[in-house]
Amino acid sequence: MSAAPDWQGAPRCDRTVAWTALRGHYEAHGRELDLREAFARDPQRFEAFGVEAPEVFADLSKNLWDVATRRLLLELARECRLEARRDAMFAGEPINTTEGRAVLHTALRAPGGSGPQSPEVQEVLVRLLAFVEQVRDTAASGIRDVVNIGIGGSDLGPQMVVPALDAFAHRDLRFHFVSNVDGHDITPVLRGLDPRRTLFIIASKTFTTQETMANAEVAKAWFLANGGTDTGKHFVATTTNVAAAAAWGISTTFGFWDWVGGRYSLWSAIGLPIALAIGAEHFRELLAGAHAMDTHFREAPLEHNLPAQLGLLDVWYRNFHHFSSRSVAPYHQGLKRLPAYLQQLEMESNGKRVDLDGEPLPFATSPVVWGEPGTNGQHAYFQMLHQGTDVIPVEFIAVRHPTHEHPSLHTKLLANCLAQSQALMLGKSTEAALGEKAPTASATLDREVLARHRTFPGNRPSTTLLLERLTPRALGALVAMYEHRVFTSGALWRINSFDQWGVELGKALCNDLLPRLASGDVEGLDASTAGLMRRLRGA
Ligand code: F6P
Repeated sequence: MSAAPDWQGAPRCDRTVAWTALRGHYEAHGRELDLREAFARDPQRFEAFGVEAPEVFADLSKNLWDVATRRLLLELARECRLEARRDAMFAGEPINTTEGRAVLHTALRAPGGSGPQSPEVQEVLVRLLAFVEQVRDTAASGIRDVVNIGIGGSDLGPQMVVPALDAFAHRDLRFHFVSNVDGHDITPVLRGLDPRRTLFIIASKTFTTQETMANAEVAKAWFLANGGTDTGKHFVATTTNVAAAAAWGISTTFGFWDWVGGRYSLWSAIGLPIALAIGAEHFRELLAGAHAMDTHFREAPLEHNLPAQLGLLDVWYRNFHHFSSRSVAPYHQGLKRLPAYLQQLEMESNGKRVDLDGEPLPFATSPVVWGEPGTNGQHAYFQMLHQGTDVIPVEFIAVRHPTHEHPSLHTKLLANCLAQSQALMLGKSTEAALGEKAPTASATLDREVLARHRTFPGNRPSTTLLLERLTPRALGALVAMYEHRVFTSGALWRINSFDQWGVELGKALCNDLLPRLASGDVEGLDASTAGLMRRLRGA
């Protein structure tokens, strides 16, 4: 019998020497670390905790760690054989153990002729990009509207990237995304469309997902009822299940493979709406940016490896500081769907409660990931970030050069971004608040009481990610950085970041309830579900 591969025999983080050392370090220094003192002590802190990666500079200096924390986290990564597991992923070993699958989204962005599965990847890519250029010749194709019907990983990636790269988008094409089985999603989209000028993409890895198939049927019925004649030209599919797409009546299909996870699939045929928006050359740039980050993750020593450092910080915050969420604040309106995209990437990947051996975990895994673009978030929930009782690490994303022509707006945006991370860290003491005269403050309330309301504890951690420009290449690198960061924390936790059994139960129960909603049969249901069903049926 051959021995288990190195990555499979790797210890779980809590069974390592470094973990015990981190516990001690947390108790002795970590819990109480004060960022203001740390910066005062070390004038080089910004340089020491800045990480350069392709297209992305990360300032990690406003995080609650020091050189010793980072050294111990790096030891933890080594003890957990992070590099062996990473290399196994890139080599196409079946690291998705519960489905017996390789995890090779990185192969989708490797240059032609390199990496595993290259011939199949290139064949689909070349065919897809040729199709893209035909459709983008809108005078000849007649297409004006593109509707992507898909959900989860078959929606969130394109839905995030298309607006992010608006500056590079075809000006005569409009993009629409329909995901929800709620008819309120598709109805307003169809309202404005002309069937003769619309291309529907039915995007589903499995081509069985209830929401997507139901919306696809609605779209087809609408198309035929409104004078559409050539479904072959107006409906295409992106799927691993080419046979099911053909059985549904689609002849133009762009395939991908079971080794591409849904939430890692924007680089595959699922990226068709992106390629239609930005064109073949820019789509290749997006892939190239991701590949540059792949190379960085593969080759940079862990000390200078951005995804690895971010993943290690995530473990530090989740398992030692017990922070249960992370807020993502992109200071770029184009990235408005990035938090939603990252929610699936991180929470579906790492929201797991057992390790690779099925052992229940005695520590926490995925944080809640949430956020809104800045500055909007500042006028909504930043109050809680600054003065609430929970500490929530914030991730700021700033872009140096905008693609619009209003420099004064951009300067204000950047000033806001810097001010927020500064305010989180510096806070404001009660003494400072006492010395101020706030124009809107009550004139009758006790000054001391008022000052306590106006105190900011500070010492709240944040990371700032800087891009020069939000180009296809930069966005590709940024997204790949997030993928590998999720991989890093998942590897240390020794969980399977590439399955999603947690979505199965609800799907099965929904299939049971569907006919009951029609018939009114509540036999065997719990009293709450039965009561709600009776009310919904008006019985
Ligand atoms: O929500 C579960 C899930 O399987 C996701 O992982 C996936 O991205 C989504 O459903 C859509 O699946 P499909 O692409 O097969 O329609």
